[in-house]
Amino acid sequence: MSDFKIAPSILSADFARLGEEVENVLNAGADVVHFDVMDNHYVPNLTIGPMVCKALRDYGIQAPIDVHLMVSPVDRMISDFIDAGASWITFHPEASDHIDRSLQMIRDGGCKSGLVFNPATPLHYLDYVLDKVDMILLMSVNPGFGGQKFIPGTLDKLRQARKIIDDSGLDIRLEIDGGVGIQNIREIAEAGADTFVAGSAIFNTDDYKATIDQMRAELAK
Ligand code: DX5
Ligand code: ZN
Repeated sequence: MSDFKIAPSILSADFARLGEEVENVLNAGADVVHFDVMDNHYVPNLTIGPMVCKALRDYGIQAPIDVHLMVSPVDRMISDFIDAGASWITFHPEASDHIDRSLQMIRDGGCKSGLVFNPATPLHYLDYVLDKVDMILLMSVNPGFGGQKFIPGTLDKLRQARKIIDDSGLDIRLEIDGGVGIQNIREIAEAGADTFVAGSAIFNTDDYKATIDQMRAELAK
């Protein structure tokens, strides 16, 4: 496994200077922009929506934008984010009334699709739609806020998800989100993740490049 991707969560960026922050973190070596959408309904917080995604595209951001929808219902936001320039769109299966349809909408819109699993959400939501997902995102914290502590039980769940992907022979990325940092990124990769969301661990440091370089050095060990 060598195709590791670092996806800074802009939830911990300075929203007053968002374009500049995203530019800086990409110049520092990030691969993907992780874009957390919270609705104060599915999760207890309120963040940013499709207008901000479009604004980043208009500002000139060309990197993949990985939209993590923590909203219910999901379908309206899927079509709005397709129009706003999203690259990846993931949603929580329990927030959608029609999981298969929502996944299909994402692919029909030309984006990569994914399902997100909260720490206590079982992986069996994948049973009948595995061929319709391009990404499985495991939450290693309860969604809603940055800066929380990694829940260790997620490592076992990562191993289970890795096995599901490998057994299927499908091309599916395995992303991890919550409490990821230099200190644990290596064991998370060993458990099977290939895409690493990190918010506070990157944006709460002064030198984004040094932090991302250290993450990559851990992954290369
Ligand atoms: C939490 C969000 C995460 C969050 C991660 O609901 O989905 O993407 O920003 O933040 P850290 O890396 O600080 O745990
Ligand atoms: Zn997220």
